[in-house]
Amino acid sequence: MPASVFTQENFARLDLVIAQHKGEQGALMPVLYEAKKIFGFISIDIQERISKGLDIPLSEIYGVASFYSTFSDKQKGENIIAVCLGTACYVKGSQKIIDKISKKLNIEVGDTTSDGKFSLVPARCVGACSLAPVVTINADVYGKAKLDDIDSILSNY
Ligand code: FES
Repeated sequence: MPASVFTQENFARLDLVIAQHKGEQGALMPVLYEAKKIFGFISIDIQERISKGLDIPLSEIYGVASFYSTFSDKQKGENIIAVCLGTACYVKGSQKIIDKISKKLNIEVGDTTSDGKFSLVPARCVGACSLAPVVTINADVYGKAKLDDIDSILSNY
């Protein structure tokens, strides 16, 4: 792991991102997304900093962060669509949402469109259960997502 990315400057950038999202519903996904951009990965030190900053238990952050690490090995599209399949989202129909996106983009879950524009991935609980079902695209969080919203959400990218 390169030590050079753990600079004061990078941690200051992370603190700024945390401050911008603190108190927001679903703050964790955008903060982790930005942290990944700043550091290139999300180590346990970074998770601890986010945990303290956002006042979210480390265990919860670990679950979501591992989604990013798992995904970092795969070929990525320009935009990453993550549909939460955690319990709260699942019972509110997130499987139907992921199926609809998969059909619309003509890709299987876990794949990237041939033009490289979108990747579609399942996520475990992203820590925003009160917004279930949750779809995130890059750092954007779409809570209480409906099947009818999918087309207009995707058209933003
Ligand atoms: S189950 Fe989807 S945010 Fe918690």
